[in-house]
Order: sequence, then C-alpha cells, then structure tokens
Amino acid sequence: MKNLLKWSLPGFVLLSAFAIAELPYGPISGDAKQGKQLYYDHGCYGCHGYEGIGRRDLANDASGIMLNEQVFLIYLRARSDKSPEFPTQDMPNYPESSLPDAAVKDIYAYIRTFKDEPPDMQDIPALQGILDDAKSD
Ligand code: HEC
Repeated sequence: MKNLLKWSLPGFVLLSAFAIAELPYGPISGDAKQGKQLYYDHGCYGCHGYEGIGRRDLANDASGIMLNEQVFLIYLRARSDKSPEFPTQDMPNYPESSLPDAAVKDIYAYIRTFKDEPPDMQDIPALQGILDDAKSD
C-alpha cells in the first residue's frame, strides 16, 4: 500500500500536467473569410490589432477564451453588465441582435488563423543599427 501511494501520486501529478499542457483547441465551424470582414466591421481590430496583437492579445495561445468556440460565444454575450459608454477602451458587449451566433463563429474561425511571428532581431536593420550604435559608445 505504501509503495502504491509512493508511485501513484507522482504518476497522477505527471498525468495531470500532461492533461493541462495539451489543452486541445475545439473545432471550428465558421468561415474565416467572412470572419475577417466581420472582425473589421465590428471594430475588433481597433483594440486587438490586425493580427490579434493589441490591447489584449488573441493570437497564438495568449487567450484561454480562444480555446473553444462556445466559450468565445458566451464571453462576447456575457458582458452586458459591463457594457461601457463609448468612447471606451474596455471590451464591449456583443448581443445576438448586433452579432448573430453565425457571425461570432466566423470571427472565431478568423481569429484562430492568427499567428504572431515577429521577425528575428537581425532581420530588422533599423533596430539592429540602434543596438550596434549603443554598443559602440
Ligand atoms: C474598445 C476596445 C475593444 C474592442 C472594440 C474589442 N475588444 Fe475584445 N477586449 C478588449 C479588452 C480591453 C479586453 C481585456 C479583457 C476585459 O476587458 O475583460 C478584451 C478581451 C477580449 C477577449 C478575451 C481575451 C482574454 O483571454 O482575456 C476576446 C476573446 C475578445 N476581446 C474578442 C473581441 C472580439 C471578437 C471583438 C470584436 C467583435 C472585440 N474583442 C472587440 C477590448 C476590445
């Protein structure tokens, strides 16, 4: 019994760690092409950038909300109590009347295409130049 406990606990911890590390992204049912237009029409880019990098990053795995279409949908709807006055920097509420479920799914599909791949430092000559100058002083 003592041995069982001794080995099963670390095993359990290890398995749980794997389960967390491999949180799977849910399926995509919307149309990314239409989602792109909606992303612009509804002003998402204003705060989240053209590539999902902005006031709050959405690209890559920066946002847990983006793991799942349903979670994303609920999140957009769940903010009615927070609905800020414009102009605002807060995340607005998006009720079904202004953004139907199908549109939300299209936007979700589009955001899932975002990849943040900044260039390496040596590939940005202006930045590298500044760093070289700083070094030579
Ligand atoms: C006026 C600025 C603004 C606009 C417009 C906006 N957002 Fe946001 N968004 C935010 C801010 C700020 C947050 C940070 C979290 C918060 O306020 O709860 C956020 C958070 C989020 C999150 C959750 C990220 C996380 O993991 O915390 C998602 C997803 C999201 N926005 C999607 C969208 C989509 C899709 C649109 C367009 C339909 C949109 N946002 C439009 C400002 C904005």
